[in-house]
Amino acid sequence: MSARLVVLVSGSGTNLQALMDAASGAYEIVAVGSDRPSIEGLARAEKAGIPTFVVPLGEDREAWNDEVLAALRSYGPDLVVLAGFMKILAPRVVEAYPMLNTHPALLPAFPGARAVRDALAYGVKVTGCTVHLATADLDAGPVVAQEAVPVFEDDDEKSLHERIKATERRLLADTVERFARGGFRIEGRKVVLP
Ligand code: GRF
Repeated sequence: MSARLVVLVSGSGTNLQALMDAASGAYEIVAVGSDRPSIEGLARAEKAGIPTFVVPLGEDREAWNDEVLAALRSYGPDLVVLAGFMKILAPRVVEAYPMLNTHPALLPAFPGARAVRDALAYGVKVTGCTVHLATADLDAGPVVAQEAVPVFEDDDEKSLHERIKATERRLLADTVERFARGGFRIEGRKVVLP
């Protein structure tokens, strides 16, 4: 039986696309949700005939978290993937389902929304991407998979992010596939995929 995946996105959705393209039976994307309407990520899902939902963040953050949780529940996911979802969810939402996040840096270096810019500004020669378990602490959950990406002399934020994303998409799709096939085990902070 394939694992039921809900993917949350906020932008162009190229990571989502990689998950859709790689789906080979181990998992099925049952819905794609967003905090923003009219984004490319949602259009990709619609084009593929995947149900979508949008929960915009208003004044009341608690109510927003309730709505996101209700939407997730309605699709009964085995796994939730944050694929460029740029809002912080309340611990009770993060803890409701196994949840993976993809991040464009080698955590614990450069957490937060400006990871690529921060890595460039720091002057690192190597950065990369991380797939980790989402926990109540932002970008601090146990690491599931990582891959390094070189920083070139003439990189700007865009060129570096594009290079990272090429690796990130493959890493995310591979990791989700393995996760969906066999689950995972946690030993302290160490995540073991079968
Ligand atoms: C990814 O690099 C993700 O890690 C970051 O935003 C980017 C999303 O790209 N938070 P896309 O929407 O999947 O194209």
